[in-house]
Order: sequence, then C-alpha cells, then structure tokens
Amino acid sequence: MKKIIITGANGRMGRTTAEYVADRDDCTVVAGVDKRVNFMGNFKIFSSMDKIDKRADVLIDFSHPEFIWQILNFCTKKRLPAVICTTGFSDAQNKKIISASSEIPIFLSENMSISINLMTRICKEITRVLDREFDIEIIERHHNKKIDAPSGTALMLANVMSSMKKDKQKYVYTRHSYRKPRAKNEIGISCIRGGSVVGEHEVIFAGNNEILSIKHSAQSKRVFVSGAINAALFIIQKDPGLYTMSDLMGFV
Ligand SMILES: NC(=O)c1ccc[n+]([C@@H]2O[C@H](COP(=O)([O-])OP(=O)(O)OC[C@H]3O[C@@H](n4cnc5c(N)ncnc54)[C@H](O)[C@@H]3O)[C@@H](O)[C@H]2O)c1
Repeated sequence: MKKIIITGANGRMGRTTAEYVADRDDCTVVAGVDKRVNFMGNFKIFSSMDKIDKRADVLIDFSHPEFIWQILNFCTKKRLPAVICTTGFSDAQNKKIISASSEIPIFLSENMSISINLMTRICKEITRVLDREFDIEIIERHHNKKIDAPSGTALMLANVMSSMKKDKQKYVYTRHSYRKPRAKNEIGISCIRGGSVVGEHEVIFAGNNEILSIKHSAQSKRVFVSGAINAALFIIQKDPGLYTMSDLMGFV
C-alpha cells in the first residue's frame, strides 16, 4: 500500500484525488497540506509542510505555483518523489523544479491525461508534415475558477508544435490591439473561461482550402487524477530525474 501526501488537498483537484484514492486498494492518502484546513476527510490536512507528521512514499501536488518552494524544500529534505500537476510556473520556479530533480524523482506534466499527451504527439507530427501555408490556432476552454491563462496544456501544445518549425514562432494571445494580417510565424492562442467546463483544447491547422482540427475534451477531473496516480506509482522506485508523460506512456 503506497502512502501519498496531497498538496492543495482542499482544492477541487486535491479533493477529487482523495476520493479517487479511496476507491483503490494499492494506495492511500496519509496527509494533506493546504492553506485551508477545514476538510473533513479520513486524513489530516496541515497548514504547512513542516507540520506533516506522517511518512509517505510520494507527494502529489495540485495547488498553486507560489507553494512550489516549500514543496521542493520538503521533498528534497525527505528524499520524497513528487508528482507536480500544478500549472502556471514562472521561469524561476521551473528552474527550481529542474534543479530539484537532480536530487529526487520529479514527474512534471501540465496535463496528466494520456489522451491529451497523445494529441500533443499527433499535433507535433502534423506540424512536421504540413507546410507553412497552414496557420496554427489553439483554442482552450476552462471553468470560471481557473486562475492561469493560457492553460499549461495550451502552452505545452504550442511549444511542441513550435519546436517543429524552422522560424521562431510568436504566440499571439489577442488580436484586438493590432490591425494587420496574420503573420506566418504566429501561433494564436485563445482562452475561454466559463461555467464548469473541465477542460477543452482544440488545435486548428487552417490551410487555404482545407482545415484540419484536433480536439480533446476532458469530461471529468478524474481523467487527470487517474494520470497523476499512475505517475505517482511510476516514480516511486525511480532514480532522481525529471519524468514526463512520455516516460509514463511507455509504462501504462
Ligand atoms: N496537470 C494537470 O493535469 C492538471 C489538471 C487540473 C488542474 N491542474 C492544476 O492544478 C492546480 C490546482 O487546480 P484546482 O482546480 O484544484 O485549484 P483550486 O484552487 O481548487 O485548489 C488549489 C488548492 O491549493 C491551495 N493553495 C493555494 N496556495 C497555497 C499555498 N501557498 N499553500 C498551501 N495551499 C495552497 C488552495 O487553498 C486550494 O485549496 C492548478 O494549477 C491547475 O491548473 C493541473
């Protein structure tokens, strides 16, 4: 039985993770951490990392970028593998994650769904094959509580497709302020926020006389939680290093 600590335990994803783990017999949640500690679950939620009094095999993080410093200090000190699912990190925070991965196994993915990671691979291949006559636009839709925009997944898709282009790509988030035709080296990223949309990502390859579009729609938060648990079980026995969904997809 693998023991898990959840950071952001009182949030939407943290609660869904706890519910999901409760239905499994190969892992259990031993502690949570959150700045809100009023969760009435079957494990204790602490207000900071240094208050945790339980031993664990792995940590799963669905919290906020500002919390990453505490999480990494705790995990490197305790030699605890970490699955980082939070999105919206700054460059400095990303650097710290990479540097901590030389000491402990860290699994990092802006999107824990296997399907969206397959979609990323497919979009990479489409970008490689299609010529530069095709314009790439990404549309992402999320619920009205999401704080970062564009989503980490939209950026992941843009970065992967951009890496296949010869010219440096410019990400254009809004067109309202500049009145000129679309340039060839642009990837447009549009964000829609509303209601309870779990998460949708569509990549449009628009040619002169044809359009190819690929779309993923997450219909439950459990899609991401299931990926996060698989990632957690995957990295427990691993050497220090930075692991991603590509590593996991060879495993599941
Ligand atoms: N990688 C993925 O597949 C994936 C999927 C869904 C969500 N996410 C990301 O997970 C994160 C959480 O999403 P959510 O919808 O559960 O958000 P949420 O706001 O519902 O939950 C975040 C929780 O973290 C807590 N928190 C915030 N700052 C904290 C701090 N400094 N110290 C301790 N606790 C703190 C909040 O109190 C809250 O309970 C977001 O970054 C989101 O983009 C990633």
